[in-house]
Amino acid sequence: MVNAFDGSRTADLPPATRDLIARRDAALGPAYRLFYEEPAEFARASGVYLYDPAGAAYLDAYNNVPSVGHSHPHVTEAVARQLATLNTHTRYLTDGVVSYAERLLATHPLMAPAHAMFTCTGSEANDLALRIARHYTGGTGVIVTANAYHGVTAALAELSPSLGPNVPLGLQVAAVPAPAAGVNFPAAVAWAIADLERHGVRLAAFLADSLFSSDGILPDPAGFLAPVAETVRAAGGLYIADEVQAGFGRTGTHLWGYQRHGIWPDIVTMGKPMGNGLPIAGIVARREVIEDFGRKSRYFNTFGGNPVCIAAAAAVLDVLQAERLPANAAATGGYLLDAITRLAADSPVLAGVRGAGLYLGVDVADPVTGAPSGELAAAIVNGMRERRVLISATGPRGSVLKIRPPLPFGREHADQLLTVLAEVLDGLGAVLDGPRAVPQAGKSSHTSSVDTERSFDPEGFLNSGAARPNDQTAQ
Ligand SMILES: Cc1ncc(COP(=O)(O)O)c(C=O)c1O
Repeated sequence: MVNAFDGSRTADLPPATRDLIARRDAALGPAYRLFYEEPAEFARASGVYLYDPAGAAYLDAYNNVPSVGHSHPHVTEAVARQLATLNTHTRYLTDGVVSYAERLLATHPLMAPAHAMFTCTGSEANDLALRIARHYTGGTGVIVTANAYHGVTAALAELSPSLGPNVPLGLQVAAVPAPAAGVNFPAAVAWAIADLERHGVRLAAFLADSLFSSDGILPDPAGFLAPVAETVRAAGGLYIADEVQAGFGRTGTHLWGYQRHGIWPDIVTMGKPMGNGLPIAGIVARREVIEDFGRKSRYFNTFGGNPVCIAAAAAVLDVLQAERLPANAAATGGYLLDAITRLAADSPVLAGVRGAGLYLGVDVADPVTGAPSGELAAAIVNGMRERRVLISATGPRGSVLKIRPPLPFGREHADQLLTVLAEVLDGLGAVLDGPRAVPQAGKSSHTSSVDTERSFDPEGFLNSGAARPNDQTAQ
């Protein structure tokens, strides 16, 4: 398990922390995990900082749920006001859910005509997308990437290879290599479709996180998913874009990760940052693919899309637009990417840097063998946590530093992160005394997918999708 407290340092922890961990274990049982060798406890948060019970500030360069900033006053007010006024469900007429759906649909213009449906979690959104795809296509097969994560339900755990060998994949599931350097991804998907067919399984959907977060954060080159969408549709399957990680402006140049690739999906699933911490998630699906399902299957989700969660979600869109947070993600993300690229040029352990907006992945490699090193990545993650900067690690070996802060993360915050990262790299000490075994030429290209030069339209972004490219896949 990547970045997990394993209990080996329990004896070194302050008594109050030890006590809370023991009570937590007793109450919550063995399935829960904590981050970091020394787990962090927080009492409050604001903007891009979390504060421990003693009031010490930690820079948050990890959390994408409080995407517009922890405890943002506009979201807090909207939620409090709505909670004090009315909180029911989607079986009564209320204006909020309809207005929000209209706003959300307008951000996916190339999917029009389309419908929005609301759930409480990203897992539920993917689960619903899967039911719709299987209904529409009559197929059952699903293609995912080799270390994908798509959720916690029984149906999604079967589609989430990153849960490890103790959680088996479904028999209708094909896992293709992640789109890393050297992988012909469209060919891998075409092969998987043929292999499923050979086993008598008709394709229902290709399901992918538009940033391939758990596969190691693989955003480049923008556009590489276009031929995949074409292949999937030609085989009769649907393209489901899991935007739980990439959505709501994180990539900077676009509101949705799929838009970087110049495609439009059949179904988009969303979650995490949607309500800045309130449990709201959902899907947008092209009308054609949802029509028959909707007529034949009643859908009611008790809490999904309730007025309080909708108020939070609407407030998130307000803040994204008013504070130009996608533009900030592009600017700060580009700045961080360039700075870490420079750090990596002088570091024997940072073997590659990539990112889109405020979602960056940094490959950590053993300086002697050049092999990806989850151990060194964990040392960096824990070293930064000791210096009160929160990041994590991802990828199949846990060897990719995962930097994914709330979107108001500014240059001053980036500088704080960079100072601490440089200190931690310096402090890796003895491990680095051996010969440098990672040749510069072997490093992955430090190209940015962030086009910070491009002008950004802060007023219009909620209505503008990707421009329809000439080679657009057929609807
Ligand atoms: C890409 C992706 N899809 C789906 C999910 C599931 O979302 P939730 O935890 O809200 O059920 C996650 C959660 O980490 C995710 O990263």
